[in-house]
Amino acid sequence: MTVVQKLLAFSALATVSYAACISSGSASTINAALQAGGTGAVVQLCPNAVFTISETIQFTAENQELSTQGYPTDNSRAKIIIAVGSNITSAVWGRWTSGVKVLNLQVDGNRPNAGAFGGDALVEMGGGSFGQVVSNNVITNTRSWSCLHYIGSGQDDNPCREGTVSGNTIGPCGTEGTDASGNGLWADGVSFECVNSVVSSNNITGSTDGGIVIFGSPGSQFVDNIITSSATQLGFGAINMVDPSYGGNYSNVLVKGNTIIGQGTGLFNLGIGIGNQVWSNQHPDPYFGPATITNNKFIGNVGFSIVINGWRNGLTVTGNDISGITTPSSSFADAGQCQPQVQTSFNANEELIVYQPSIAGPSDFQSDFTSVPQNATNWLCLKHPLPSAESFATLSVNGQASTVVDLAHFHVQIQGDGNVVGLDTTGGVWTVKWASGPQSSNCGADGSSCVLFFGSDGDLSVHDAVGQVWHSATSGTGKSVVFSNSSPYLQVLNAAGAAVWSIADGVKT
Ligand SMILES: *[C@@H]1O[C@H](CO)[C@@H](O)[C@H](O)[C@H]1NC(C)=O
Ligand SMILES: *[C@@H]1O[C@H](CO)[C@@H](O)[C@H](O)[C@H]1NC(C)=O
Ligand SMILES: *[C@@H]1O[C@H](CO)[C@@H](O)[C@H](O)[C@H]1NC(C)=O
Ligand SMILES: *[C@@H]1O[C@H](CO)[C@@H](O)[C@H](O)[C@H]1NC(C)=O
Repeated sequence: MTVVQKLLAFSALATVSYAACISSGSASTINAALQAGGTGAVVQLCPNAVFTISETIQFTAENQELSTQGYPTDNSRAKIIIAVGSNITSAVWGRWTSGVKVLNLQVDGNRPNAGAFGGDALVEMGGGSFGQVVSNNVITNTRSWSCLHYIGSGQDDNPCREGTVSGNTIGPCGTEGTDASGNGLWADGVSFECVNSVVSSNNITGSTDGGIVIFGSPGSQFVDNIITSSATQLGFGAINMVDPSYGGNYSNVLVKGNTIIGQGTGLFNLGIGIGNQVWSNQHPDPYFGPATITNNKFIGNVGFSIVINGWRNGLTVTGNDISGITTPSSSFADAGQCQPQVQTSFNANEELIVYQPSIAGPSDFQSDFTSVPQNATNWLCLKHPLPSAESFATLSVNGQASTVVDLAHFHVQIQGDGNVVGLDTTGGVWTVKWASGPQSSNCGADGSSCVLFFGSDGDLSVHDAVGQVWHSATSGTGKSVVFSNSSPYLQVLNAAGAAVWSIADGVKT
């Protein structure tokens, strides 16, 4: 072969192996290629290309593939990022198209810049289809409730099935807390509702709702994933088996070899929650297996590693390793607002918990499980550690907003009748420790006209729709108010930090 022949052969080979990649453009360039390509089209983006999109990229026919050319696994993976000002939440959409593949891309919902926004997940797959693959991608910063969602089909004879989610790096997804209107800002890592599928070897960091939420998904396997909390924020659960999809059917679900890590000042409230009476929203009927949860590892700040309440027809929970858990749990979390049994388990650092009367049918639980006596139905109640006292330079809370401050095992509220009350919540029993009195009948129907107020003049007061109800008479001397979970419960301090007014024990009238 001459040199020229060799070169020709090489370039012919290169042409066959590598179709032209798309080096830049918007979603419409990619969508046009998918539309023109039809069934089985492989649309490749060039390494290092960046696509800033305002329209969702949609698969249009079965067995299409969207990937980075050469299948890199580093930062040269092509990046698809949602544009600031766009109102889309899904960057890639593959519902109801069998065999489509999303490979070796970086998909960024851009929540920090584009903002949180209600809608479908950042990557939306599933529906009545089979064989969809999402592998080796980075999926991060969803604007909505989930980074990656495989939705079920709702059709018994055509379920979402045989999906693969592997080798992805996922997160952060959402943030803890709510917006000003009270909408949750949290999001799932992977939300999965397909049968006979595999979710494996994904690296999920900074999910704030569920890391992997298993929606029934009978016959599916969730193996060898690493799920790590945010370094600073609360994640509700790492792996959830708490939703009633498929009528609560979790038969032949396998959760094996996953590592769940609570890091930094972040935490997971629940490692693996199992059953219909575990999450904050309970469901009427127990879920059912047989399901197996085995050889998972729990490390660091995990409030409760495994909690089971409400299951029938088979559950095996063996070989799970809790030796790396941070103790005491109170060093990274607070259970002061939880039900009595939850507080008791928390204080005893119980990690593997079952409410045995809720289990029907065969079960095999490893020996370090605690069988708790009470039927606690909401294990999703942990908070970050709370201070024993908190100081305010200004304050304005009305009777509708109610909460003035949450302290360790202590809650201060202004009621709808204007009475300001301090309650000890130890053991899940709320005991009044102090009350400002008096009650007012001029707070308005929703209590919002009664306001606890501390302004720059240094006077602490409650006023209602008519006028002032009481005040500390510290105008000119008060500089801060301090609430504490022990006596003195409430003080107005002067500039030198000395108390000029206080509520110590009992009830002030
Ligand atoms: C998003 O923007 C498009 C184009 O401006 C508009 O047609 C659509 O109704 C908007 N959708 C939402 C959910 O706001
Ligand atoms: C998981 O991903 C994070 C970044 O999100 C990275 O820091 C970490 O090294 C990864 N872990 C593994 C085992 O790949
Ligand atoms: C649960 O799902 C499995 C697998 O799809 C199925 O064989 C079984 O019949 C289902 N059980 C019930 C009670 O629906
Ligand atoms: C636990 O309490 C819940 C809520 O009241 C109830 O629905 C459930 O049946 C109880 N479980 C058992 C085993 O009694």
